[in-house]
Amino acid sequence: MNLLVTGGAGFIGSHVVRRLVTNYPEYTIYNLDKLTYAGNLENLKDVDQLPNYNFIKGDIVQEDFINDLFERINFDGVIHLAAESHVDRSIEDPLAFVRTNIIGTVNLLNAAKKSWSGKFSRKRFYHVSTDEVYGSLGKEGLFTEETSYDPNSPYSASKASSDHFVRAYGETYNLPFVISNCSNNYGPYHFPEKLIPLFINNIIENKALPVYGDGKYTRDWLFVEDHARAIDLIFHKGKDRETYNIGGFNEWQNIDLIKLLCKVMDRKLNRNEEESEKLITYVKDRPGHDLRYAINATKINEELGWKPSVTFEEGLEKTVDWYLNNSEWLKHVTSGDYKEYYSKMYS
Ligand code: NAD
Ligand code: TYD
Repeated sequence: MNLLVTGGAGFIGSHVVRRLVTNYPEYTIYNLDKLTYAGNLENLKDVDQLPNYNFIKGDIVQEDFINDLFERINFDGVIHLAAESHVDRSIEDPLAFVRTNIIGTVNLLNAAKKSWSGKFSRKRFYHVSTDEVYGSLGKEGLFTEETSYDPNSPYSASKASSDHFVRAYGETYNLPFVISNCSNNYGPYHFPEKLIPLFINNIIENKALPVYGDGKYTRDWLFVEDHARAIDLIFHKGKDRETYNIGGFNEWQNIDLIKLLCKVMDRKLNRNEEESEKLITYVKDRPGHDLRYAINATKINEELGWKPSVTFEEGLEKTVDWYLNNSEWLKHVTSGDYKEYYSKMYS
């Protein structure tokens, strides 16, 4: 099996690639990644020497390059994760999200359709998406696979659009697809622009912890390795043309999560109790900030037997340990452009 994974040098993609190259030595895995600020080959240095792993540097927005690639290699499946993924960046530069998330996805769909030319048996296009396409929940309720799309940020609008294109290629051209919509991930190799790794890094550096608005926004957090396991399962066992919601059954208000993280960090760094909490600083809210995301993951649980394997407390502990033991990684990704990004967004 020749398997194309896009965005495999990013946060979730690197966990997916690691799992696939390790668990399926009989597959040939091709990791296609543009290596944007979020892509980092260091994320895969423990597996990049395996004989079934190949890296291809490239941009999914470049139509000719993508078509050539699909002509050169007969892929049996695509697991598509490459994306611009940060809401705050999407507010600054929506077009970058249109290019990669929408046009890039359509380029891949076209190339798969052309190269598979109607011979779809045992082919599969797996599109990895987010729960943010469903918009915001109020205080009650959960997102199911039937919840209507109602995206509020340029990021979620671009992901919603790409989901629609994938379904449309299924309906119009019979392209075999599967889609999953997952809640917020956390864990090792997470770029420190997202809440948990950004706050871990700031606590290490004794910098302010910028809490948007009143901090009462709620997210459903899932350990990234559990997401990678769900992707593996859905790719191999999920039903064609179906959507699967993936979630942690683990809702936290931002401020409660941040206080828990502060406690864990104080303990690990041998600091006085509540020292890190003093860094909490309430800042201007994100425009269009979604109040609450929470997933009903009953379908994947009942159909495929998936459920999260670690509690949030265990996952957070593992995550903090990883960042403290990988200070070189953190140093590399927070040098250079990151400093510019940080002062632009948080000054
Ligand atoms: P990430 O930003 O860490 O990684 C994205 C990867 O895509 C990077 O390696 C980057 O170099 C690559 N990439 C970006 N533009 C590209 C292009 N034009 N061509 C080729 N490669 C390109 O993102 P992530 O958090 O790992 O998310 C991966 C996928 O999972 C995304 O599709 C995202 O929407 C989805 N998702 C993320 C979360 C989350 O909590 N992070 C939750 C649900 C779904
Ligand atoms: P984030 O990690 O950006 O994920 P998403 O917006 O995709 O859910 O943010 C998670 C929550 O944390 C969200 O409610 C916004 C909030 N947040 C802050 O309060 N401060 C920050 O500096 C960041 C990056 C996020």
